[in-house]
Amino acid sequence: MKIGILTGGGDCPGLNAVIRGAVIGLVQQGHSAIGLRHGWKGLLDKETVPLGLADVDGIERTGGTILKTSRTNPYKTEETRKAALESFKALGLDAIIAVGGDDTLGACHKLTQDGVPAVGVPKTIDNDLSGTDVTFGFDTATNIVTEAIDRLHTTAGSHERILVVEIMGRHAGWITLHGGLAGGAHVILVPEEPFDLGAVAEVCKARRAAGADHTIVAVSEGAMATDVDSFVTQDKSVDEFGHVRLGGIGKTLAKELERLTGQEARHVVLGHLQRGGVPSAFDRVLGLRLGLAAAHAVHDKDFGKMVALKGTDIERVAIATAVGTLRTVPEERLEEKRQLLSSIATVTRTA
Ligand code: F6P
Repeated sequence: MKIGILTGGGDCPGLNAVIRGAVIGLVQQGHSAIGLRHGWKGLLDKETVPLGLADVDGIERTGGTILKTSRTNPYKTEETRKAALESFKALGLDAIIAVGGDDTLGACHKLTQDGVPAVGVPKTIDNDLSGTDVTFGFDTATNIVTEAIDRLHTTAGSHERILVVEIMGRHAGWITLHGGLAGGAHVILVPEEPFDLGAVAEVCKARRAAGADHTIVAVSEGAMATDVDSFVTQDKSVDEFGHVRLGGIGKTLAKELERLTGQEARHVVLGHLQRGGVPSAFDRVLGLRLGLAAAHAVHDKDFGKMVALKGTDIERVAIATAVGTLRTVPEERLEEKRQLLSSIATVTRTA
């Protein structure tokens, strides 16, 4: 069989590991692979690259995606849908392995319903896909956030400031929660739990009163205060899947906290640093395993499936289970966070 592999949506550390794992698995079972460049755009435009073993040698150690990516939606119009189906035939493909998040896998699911044999691989640093316990890229992003917060403590302490760290996560606060806990943030604000601005200011004030020299506030880009009903966005433009560009909550929050507490505040937007650079060991291994498992699913002609991490095993689940409903941080994890941060306002270790 001839298999097209594509990576869609935001890039993510571990994508190249998936590509390598898939190519190894396909070649070992007598199949061939080609890369479709720039996500679904590569299918529409028939833009391909050869993907042999030599092309993927060692790429699991690298960041980004050698296939490039885009947020192109093949189901944007009836014309693009037809073009995708025609391209699949014209390229002589037997199946597609699509590596992506909710949007890419959603399109993949629709293609399978239109008769295109396909297997999905879940990808997002946000860790918010249903049907899998963890997504690759999340571990790397969390490590980057942790290191950033570690560093921010000393500069915030030296200047006796509040430092607000804006972290990726549109609807799910996984990176903020894990990066915030690991980095010792004093306040962690996630999209799943609207926050009371006054209460955050009180934490900063109480910490100062207890002798603390700084407060770190970790906030997801998609977090919202209780008295607002829309995201803080960079502008009103939307991508092909209808998403606005988030960003700005960190700046807004720092300004408001400065006003409410009288303490100096600064903000940092970690942005695309969280997606860039080499993947962690965990994400390299997970990516390789998922890629290999996707190749096995193709070989077995088990189409319409997504390979997923369940516990420590890679299993196959229906792509349909992964799309449409995001896996947000559940209440019990929020409660854990509340308990872990419960003494943060009043107990501080002074050197
Ligand atoms: O991949 C998901 C994500 O990382 C979101 O957390 C974020 O909102 C978005 O990508 C930003 O993507 P870009 O700026 O690349 O369009």
